[in-house]
Amino acid sequence: MKFQHEQLITLAEEIFIKAGCKHDVAHQVGKRLVEANLVGHDSHGVIRIPSYVEWLHDGKVLANQSIRIISENDVIAVVDGQFGLGQIVGEEAIQLGINKAAQHGVTVIALRNSGHLGRIGDWAEMAAEAGMLSLHFVNTSGAGMLVAPFGGIDRRLSANPFTAGVPTGDSKPIILDMSACTVAEGKIRVALNQGTMVEDGCLIDSAGNPTNDPRCFYGDPPGAILPIAGHKGSGLSLIIEMLAGALTGSSCTNPKNASRVANGMLSVIIDRRFFGSDNEFFPEVERFISFVKSSRTINHNGEILMPGELEQRTKAQRLEQGIELDEITWKQICTTCRSLNIEHGFIESNETNPAFHDSQISIPGCEPVSSKSGSRDER
Ligand SMILES: NC(=O)c1ccc[n+]([C@@H]2O[C@H](COP(=O)([O-])OP(=O)(O)OC[C@H]3O[C@@H](n4cnc5c(N)ncnc54)[C@H](O)[C@@H]3O)[C@@H](O)[C@H]2O)c1
Repeated sequence: MKFQHEQLITLAEEIFIKAGCKHDVAHQVGKRLVEANLVGHDSHGVIRIPSYVEWLHDGKVLANQSIRIISENDVIAVVDGQFGLGQIVGEEAIQLGINKAAQHGVTVIALRNSGHLGRIGDWAEMAAEAGMLSLHFVNTSGAGMLVAPFGGIDRRLSANPFTAGVPTGDSKPIILDMSACTVAEGKIRVALNQGTMVEDGCLIDSAGNPTNDPRCFYGDPPGAILPIAGHKGSGLSLIIEMLAGALTGSSCTNPKNASRVANGMLSVIIDRRFFGSDNEFFPEVERFISFVKSSRTINHNGEILMPGELEQRTKAQRLEQGIELDEITWKQICTTCRSLNIEHGFIESNETNPAFHDSQISIPGCEPVSSKSGSRDER
């Protein structure tokens, strides 16, 4: 099913208002979720609406929170997201960082106890729009445990995205936005919803055997995601936990916090204007990008892309052609709408009656789970 992005923002807004959010909060959350769909990260888009609404209903995330400053000086701020929606408290924290960096050249913002921060690339883009470079380290405490450490079987680490943004002058910014695990959990959920398999080398089942089946990941006992790049990715992930979880005060993964999903984020924001003139920085960045792109490509007619370029192209395409949602994601959103007594023609006319892709194939080491009801390990 295809939707124009404005339709999805309007629907998300309506849902979040019914779930207790003020109008501007509902709009902002909807806009950021749909932005994730626009740039191609469906795993962090409107597929999250049902779990956000569930968390709001259960009081695991609070509707209209703002950040509370715990301590600050000119260049550092430690802020508490007070379990507010990450799209709101995340933006407030980054705006505070941009303001401080504009005055002092650099800032470190430690955000603790944030609701799910969604696509972390949003925060690097926000800094880049203000002309600033930024680094972001994000972890999920408690219920975020998804990833086995190098050499291990059990879930001990969270998905731990590392994100960096560099403005480039006239061109689009470079946005490297990557989790330190082989596949984002939301993408496993998308595969579960679509009845497809996950790529090789991403998952192990509960006994530590490689698997491609998303149902093994959500089974009981559960499987785990593997870190990127073996021992190196596992080490990177560990450091991200320390920065985003321990230094911010948000907590590293800890089974004691399992009832709640909270993101911690350590952001370093740098105002390049304190380091030299734009006549030095931007020409060097542009020269370097051209040099990297001039490499011969392995595939005939291949192309070297900069981090963020794929997302920028997908956005241009989806703004024009719309956003495709799989039937199960749409059906789950419709169920959420009905639970909030939201009924109008838009929902009814777009709701089909799909047979769920839910063949209960039995796989050794995995308890099959239903794609209708999989446990929500959302990160
Ligand atoms: N809030 C959270 O707790 C949380 C946790 C995990 C992930 N996430 C989000 O999930 C999203 C997906 O993460 P991911 O690790 O699956 O990202 P990904 O693997 O799709 O992309 C990672 C990076 O690689 C770049 N890239 C992709 N293909 C490329 C190519 N062919 N050439 C050059 N560069 C290329 C992308 O632009 C991106 O910067 C991110 O937006 C991340 O912030 C959020």
